[in-house]
Amino acid sequence: PDLKAMVGLPDFDWAARNYLPLLNYTYYRNGAAGESSYRNNLEVFGRYTFIPEVMNDVTKIEESLPTTILGHNFSAPFYISPCAYGLYGHPNAEANFVKGAAAGKILYIPSGYASLSIEEIHALKAEGQVVFQQLYLTTNDTETQSLFDRSKAAGADALVFTVDAPIFGSRHRAARLDVSLALYTNDTYYQWDYYHKLQNMTDLPIIVKGIMSAKDAKKAVENKVPAIVLSNHGGRQLDGAPSALEVAIDIYKEAPEVFNQTEVFADGGVRYGTDALKLLALGVKAVGLGRPFMYSNVFGQEGVERVIELFKKELAVDGANVGLGSLKDINPGFLNLSPNNWH
Ligand code: FNR
Repeated sequence: PDLKAMVGLPDFDWAARNYLPLLNYTYYRNGAAGESSYRNNLEVFGRYTFIPEVMNDVTKIEESLPTTILGHNFSAPFYISPCAYGLYGHPNAEANFVKGAAAGKILYIPSGYASLSIEEIHALKAEGQVVFQQLYLTTNDTETQSLFDRSKAAGADALVFTVDAPIFGSRHRAARLDVSLALYTNDTYYQWDYYHKLQNMTDLPIIVKGIMSAKDAKKAVENKVPAIVLSNHGGRQLDGAPSALEVAIDIYKEAPEVFNQTEVFADGGVRYGTDALKLLALGVKAVGLGRPFMYSNVFGQEGVERVIELFKKELAVDGANVGLGSLKDINPGFLNLSPNNWH
């Protein structure tokens, strides 16, 4: 496929499906079980409409894209979510993400199950580039300490602790092609008091990824978590888990103060500028994109850069059509919280 023919993020799914060996594509595409959550992640955005404003000065919207994430400056409120095994998409694997993120000045969060090691990925950073590090942790303190120390020594600026996958999800689509991708358990049972122990093992901020309810968002605040990611793991873990937009709406209704008490990020199914704007309207600070970047890697670093460029353009165009003078002006008043009946 021709990179110039890619006009929006869903096109990269099409390109990867046509280009990659079936098993590689299926590993990325897979959702858990009947894939209801996978589909809902994509479809939920269509159930909520904007309440646009007209006759506003929207000429400077593009200048308003830059934002901060845990105090670090980035050119836009979206980032590359941690996804395992970059090698399934391109021989350079994660190298294309770290370099593409540097070129586009956005945040990259490598997976703890990347194809390159923590050290290899962080060694590829540009001067001054901020990169976080996602980790899957076991309750083995020696292993955890070693992962924390390696991440710190490699230069990671924050850690991401993924809590929505205590056990590998039932992913039938890929398991049908390769039984080694069928169910297995890995016994990583931790509770909130474990978070305090973790935070005492490193001076890097530890973000909690995989919050799926307002109740748990409040618990994260009580446990002084500096940032949370509303995520159902791209619908790959619990089929039936709510989408980030539904969780963000629940938080807005039940505990809106959470958005000021911790930095709230969200991912899952974000494919259009409008999807991101709906999350930002509720108080989400930045959104993560997983599959679109994994698929874009079939074009190498150029593909990664193209996704960044396209998504920045969409954010600006869509923001202007919502009637925003600045992306920072978006607020819950621009979103109709009653779902429509279009679907
Ligand atoms: C993931 N995700 C993930 N999350 C994480 O914390 N560590 C990981 O190693 C992985 N691995 C992974 C592999 C693949 C192939 C996918 C698609 C996803 C979840 C990821 O960070 C993110 O939550 C979702 O990908 C967001 O949904 P979309 O953008 O893919 O729809």
